[in-house]
Amino acid sequence: MTSKIAIDALSEAEAKLELARLAVELSAANAAYYTEDNPDLTDDAYDALKRRNSAIEKRFSHLKRDDSPSDQVGAAPADGFSKIAHEVAMLSLSNAFDAEDVMDFDGRIRKYLGLSTDTDLGFTAEPKIDGLSLSLRYEDGQLVHAVTRGDGAVGENVTSNALTISDIPHTLQDCPKVLEVRGEVYMSHADFTALNERQSERGGKVFANPRNAAAGSLRQLDAEITKSRPLRFFAYAWGALSDPLAPTQMGAITRLKELGFSTNPLTVLCDGPEAMLAHYAKIEEQRATLGYDIDGVVYKVDDLALQDRLGFRSTTPRWAIAHKFPAELAWTRLEGIDIQVGRTGALSPVARLQPVTVGGVVVSNATLHNEDYIKGLDSKGQEIRGGKDIRVGDWVQVYRAGDVIPKIADVDLSKRPTDAVPYQFPAICPECNSEALREPGDAVRRCSGGLICPAQAVEKLKHFVARGAFDIEGMGAKQVEQFYVDGWIKEPADIFTLKDRYGQGLQQLKNREGWGEKSANNLFQGIEDKRNIPLGRVIFALGIRHVGDAASNLLALHYETWDAFEAAMVDAQKHEGPAWDDLIDVDGVGAVMAGSVVSAFAQSGERASIDRLVAQLNIIPAERADTSGSPVAGKTVVFTGTLEKMTRAEAKARAERLGAKVSGSVSAKTDILIAGPGAGSKAKKAADLGVQTMDEDGWLALINAV
Ligand code: IVH
Repeated sequence: MTSKIAIDALSEAEAKLELARLAVELSAANAAYYTEDNPDLTDDAYDALKRRNSAIEKRFSHLKRDDSPSDQVGAAPADGFSKIAHEVAMLSLSNAFDAEDVMDFDGRIRKYLGLSTDTDLGFTAEPKIDGLSLSLRYEDGQLVHAVTRGDGAVGENVTSNALTISDIPHTLQDCPKVLEVRGEVYMSHADFTALNERQSERGGKVFANPRNAAAGSLRQLDAEITKSRPLRFFAYAWGALSDPLAPTQMGAITRLKELGFSTNPLTVLCDGPEAMLAHYAKIEEQRATLGYDIDGVVYKVDDLALQDRLGFRSTTPRWAIAHKFPAELAWTRLEGIDIQVGRTGALSPVARLQPVTVGGVVVSNATLHNEDYIKGLDSKGQEIRGGKDIRVGDWVQVYRAGDVIPKIADVDLSKRPTDAVPYQFPAICPECNSEALREPGDAVRRCSGGLICPAQAVEKLKHFVARGAFDIEGMGAKQVEQFYVDGWIKEPADIFTLKDRYGQGLQQLKNREGWGEKSANNLFQGIEDKRNIPLGRVIFALGIRHVGDAASNLLALHYETWDAFEAAMVDAQKHEGPAWDDLIDVDGVGAVMAGSVVSAFAQSGERASIDRLVAQLNIIPAERADTSGSPVAGKTVVFTGTLEKMTRAEAKARAERLGAKVSGSVSAKTDILIAGPGAGSKAKKAADLGVQTMDEDGWLALINAV
């Protein structure tokens, strides 16, 4: 399998491919040796492969892989999995909960594509498997790596473990040169029960449900353990692809099956919402007897050309949706209500419950949202639960759907203790005794202590180091709390001076309880690794209210550099003027979010803390998708009048995909106005300003020339 070309004679492309092959071969050999006690290579042959790998890496050091066998001892690196970036992001699905949501899904797609109700629009419908997703990359038919979803952009390299799963082929025949197959790793009910029996006999960990068992088994550093845990894999999607698999979703799934993957037998083609709902009912009926956990049905537009036109919102495709099964319910007693203070100062009530099993998981906490929710009112002041309030001592009905935090659905008034009293929501922050205030229109009461409130400071720090933000290896919630309590870290900038302050001298990290030389050095290295950090992550890590992961990336793409972003936020302070207009013009940023970001830069304490942080970092500017070759990259365009070939939403999304900025109004900055029939004042203004103007066909000719 491995080529015999002399290393000196290898081209760069050949070297890259061979390193990929060697990684798999050596990984498989490791698995066979360490996990099956059945080595399939002699020691000499194994050593020869390892030497060849090292020699290629020496000559082409820039091609060394993240999962290089030279860095691996045994079946997996001893101190965790290496990380691999997904060439195509692994996204999630938006949810539908009832028939109306499914009809709306069909309606939204028709609207976006401009299809009338009598145009055919087919969907596939298949079970949503309750496991964990995995991406398998094949190059020239060889499995080169298997990567978990991780944060969607970067996952963990679990190749050695995936090689032990019998549903996962190691090689493929007659497939695209590059093929990433995506699907779900899961454990059957029978295997789960048997595993838990074995575990409890041995005094090992007993898993709460098959999903946890599958996740725990796949993410074992020792592939021997994975091998002993019977995992399965259903293929249902793909990532990077050098050639299309088929013109339709159904065709692509059939092709994956022909290539040797397990695909779900309950996958069918439907001609619209009625057939989709009928299949949902059929799957729900069979749910208990399938032998594995599913938590809903996934619908996908069948025509892949339409999928392509529909594209993605920030984290979910427009062309697919998960129709979830109703949540499972259980009754239990409310033993108390605790108040937690979050990073934005929100006082969140949490129900402490008498532990109860809901859908196979023991639940002892549930969210109570806010004070109105406890009173029986929603955010608009309308009654919920028939207006019943929640009191300590009540019998409450708990539900959980998927991964979400359990919630309370109902209260049984017939069982209410006679001495139960209405809950008095605190008006003082339980952490710092500052006043807790409720602004008009805000459902949440917030601590007014800002950075003096230790709970806010700690929660901000926890968010800062978490996944999706700085994701600092070796620094989690526990470490943050300890460092904060001891005064070692008070704000994010302090993390980056930790080594200077506690790497040498009288008080050193390595001498703290629970730390040693190696773990201290690992943490310092983990921190160093994150000094170079993409702009989107920095914005997200600041933990500004309303500014989530997706919005942070949108802001980063819009402003590109930290300096431009900061300057614009300062210029937009007055909530008016060009900087403010430009901010709220960013697709996905509304006035509420804009106000929130701007206010973070308006408070001198917070601004100074941000500036101290930025001084420690090298912030990598956001890179727009490669639109080189696009004739409209970097151009500001405006659509006006009626478009006849596509809807406004599709036109906008397509222009943005090609690197153009779509604006709602014509100004001196406008490069092109696309004017359909009925164009009015914008066309006139463009003519006055000398802006290039074209009709829809002219625009399509321009962008299709790409
Ligand atoms: S399609 C672009 N199909 O559900 C999204 N996902 O909530 C492609 N899942 O992360 C996903 N069964 O782990 C798809 N039949 C199925 C699925 C499925 C389970 C999981 C998957 C994904 C999550 C989204």
